[in-house]
Amino acid sequence: MSIDVTRDGAVAIVTVNRPEALNALNLETIQELRSALQAVATDDSVRAVVLTGAGEKAFIAGADIKYMSTLTVLEARAWGALGHACASLLESMPKPTIAAINGFALGGGCEMALGCDIRYASTKAKLGQPEINLGILPGWGGSQRLPRVVGLGIAKELIFTGRMVDAAEAARIGLVNAVFEPEELLPKTLELAQQLAGKSPSAMAFAKQATNLALQGSVADGLAQEATLFAALFATEDQSEGMGAFIEKRPPSFTGR
Ligand code: CAA
Repeated sequence: MSIDVTRDGAVAIVTVNRPEALNALNLETIQELRSALQAVATDDSVRAVVLTGAGEKAFIAGADIKYMSTLTVLEARAWGALGHACASLLESMPKPTIAAINGFALGGGCEMALGCDIRYASTKAKLGQPEINLGILPGWGGSQRLPRVVGLGIAKELIFTGRMVDAAEAARIGLVNAVFEPEELLPKTLELAQQLAGKSPSAMAFAKQATNLALQGSVADGLAQEATLFAALFATEDQSEGMGAFIEKRPPSFTGR
């Protein structure tokens, strides 16, 4: 098994564990990753998900180049779909996903991080979309998600040159939310994940659904969906609890009902 799933209370930590290949995703590993993400997505006891890589060097050094080197067009299509499925699960599952980028996040690795809602990085992290140097383009969502995160001009520069950015530059261009010393990365990520896991699951799910619409379609359509989601939350016990707790000057206790 090259994907480990561990728990810290309501937080699931999904670790790509193939350090001998810098956690590059081959067929077996990405299929396992998809199954692990499907499992945490549908497990109501999981309220936040952390994605990280095993070892000191890499988050995920990309799709496995040795595996990809002999793919036919049809196989490449299926390979692209597998990566899309994983990144889309991270992006759309009804709970927050956080990438703890502990080293190289290249190609498909950067694309998995881009699927996450929030990215924290260690000072040792290096991120990039080097596919151009292999004669291909980012095929697991990078051509669409990178521009949405850092803007079209910077995304084009990174995708066209294939150059890596270090953690400080990644923070400056908005590719990662924050940077920590290597030993602080997981504790800080888990602190955030626990904070998010304590929120109302229904409010969190709807907030994620609404914000995911922000860069798609028209503002009018997005506002219409926001209005529906906002109103629907007034049918939940968590809304009564959250507002009641504020009025009674006590911390809320959310159940997801
Ligand atoms: N695929 C397969 N194996 C990989 C790999 C990858 N993406 N990245 C690293 N490895 C393997 C290396 O082949 C090596 O294995 P061997 O010892 O068996 O040769 C091992 O991991 C250690 O790597 P290096 O010796 O190269 O380590 P380094 O410290 O010298 O360099 C690195 C690190 C700069 C990350 C370098 O490994 C590298 O450039 N890797 C490739 C990064 C890349 O191009 N990723 C994008 C892939 S394409 C993609 O992801 C397409 C997509 O959008 C779906």
